Amino acid sequence: MKTGTVKISPEEIEKQYGFMAEYKAMNDAYAAENGRVRTARVRNFGCQMNEHDSEKIAGMLTEMGYNIVGEEVKNPDLIIFNTCCVRENAEEKVYGHLGALKGLKRENPEMLICVCGCMTEQPQVVEEIKKKYKNVDLVFGTQNLHTFPELLLGCVKKQTHTYDTHHTDGLVAENVPVRREDKIKAWVTVMYGCNNFCSYCIVPYVRGRERSRAHEDILQEIKKLEKDGIQEITLLGQNVNSYGKDRDEEISFAALLQLICDETDIPRIRFMTPHPKDLSDELIDVMARNPQICRQLHLPVQCGSTSLLKKMNRHYTREQYLDLVDRIRAKIPDIALSTDVIVGFPGETDEDFEDTYTLFEKVRYDMAYTFIYSKRTGTPAATWEQVPEDVVKARFDRLLELQNRIDREINDTYEGKTVEVLVEGPSKNNPDKFCGRTSGNKVVNFTCDEKYAGKIIKVKITEAATWNLNGEALKE
Ligand code: SAH
Ligand code: SF4
Ligand code: F3S
Repeated sequence: MKTGTVKISPEEIEKQYGFMAEYKAMNDAYAAENGRVRTARVRNFGCQMNEHDSEKIAGMLTEMGYNIVGEEVKNPDLIIFNTCCVRENAEEKVYGHLGALKGLKRENPEMLICVCGCMTEQPQVVEEIKKKYKNVDLVFGTQNLHTFPELLLGCVKKQTHTYDTHHTDGLVAENVPVRREDKIKAWVTVMYGCNNFCSYCIVPYVRGRERSRAHEDILQEIKKLEKDGIQEITLLGQNVNSYGKDRDEEISFAALLQLICDETDIPRIRFMTPHPKDLSDELIDVMARNPQICRQLHLPVQCGSTSLLKKMNRHYTREQYLDLVDRIRAKIPDIALSTDVIVGFPGETDEDFEDTYTLFEKVRYDMAYTFIYSKRTGTPAATWEQVPEDVVKARFDRLLELQNRIDREINDTYEGKTVEVLVEGPSKNNPDKFCGRTSGNKVVNFTCDEKYAGKIIKVKITEAATWNLNGEALKE
């Protein structure tokens, strides 16, 4: 079904550039008078999409004349929290940080505090902020991100609090400024929103309906990234398999991937997330055919029991999922599979959990993100009978232990092998070493004489650990 996604007019985006210029003039005047450029700190709490939105916010703030700073600056002129609400602990973190800012704002009443992102798309959260966090100047949502310059300018000029969330207008904004700190890897959104309404998940309520970008706009962005020297892109969408279904000039996600492979020379292409319910054979074939598409597939299973999958509204059975894994591995034998799983979904019985456990034994994922079910107000599952906490914890620990063992066993098979690694830079834990990833997304720490950042090099694996591999760069 076409929902008629509409691109926001260039005039509307131009208008925002006008607001950014006006704001910049204000900030420049402040800098001339005070001998310092105003600073802004953007903090994100959520997934890759949230992270990429933060890059757009930082892009707009840079255009507005702010100097973007990190956590080391304790007292910036503007702080913005880009929030997540997928699980309760993500929300609690944000409230904790907002509380902690009260003191800072007392010391520096000029400081601007903004909150945006998925959390603010829930009316009860906006009410809570209005009531308890009066230090917050501006609240905006996920679907009006591009109007941030207008909102911030209005907020500063009128000296009032502004709350502007919950837009559901099926629009896509192009040409919003982006500030990418990473010079090697980049996120590229292919679609926004989600129509799936898995019964536990808040995302469709806070991100709105599926909206795909035009393939011409996606290609143009990627070509520019290629010119800037980007070596790896990750295409983003809540369910990339739905790409194009909302547009008149529909092309499938597989066709989009093939187009990117044909028209650009980016050495590595990743994407996330494909929903298992509609992962096509066409997509498997495109991956198999094009080696620049990384040998990694994130295929969230959520649980291994058919009856629970039905209650989750996932639209596949255990058997269909396992069959899909077989079909993928038959055509792409070196694929690394990863997954998301929820333990303790309402009504999960011992048998249901055993189904998940045995599915993990069967599939042997290279990596798994294991979550404890978190009740989300407004979703159907929130009203269903919950599993006792101690039962959930015991199941969670068992599954984690199994997956850690599998991770280690798979990593052990790499010892002595030579792998290709895209070098990202010095290793975080050991500055004497470099760090990079394989096509299958394994993290490799290695020694090498020269700086290879941004290059794909061969590394011999000397030692495996549970979450990474260690090795030595081979001389060409
Ligand atoms: N669109 C993606 C993932 C979005 S959210 C997909 O469908 O795979 C990322 C992960 O968070 C989900 O895969 C799920 O495992 C987890 N998640 C979502 N809602 C949750 C909840 N209420 N409690 C615990 N985990 C949840
Ligand atoms: Fe949430 Fe399901 Fe949509 Fe993923 S596909 S974002 S889990 S509703
Ligand atoms: Fe992402 Fe969290 Fe929103 S996972 S889509 S930032 S609710």
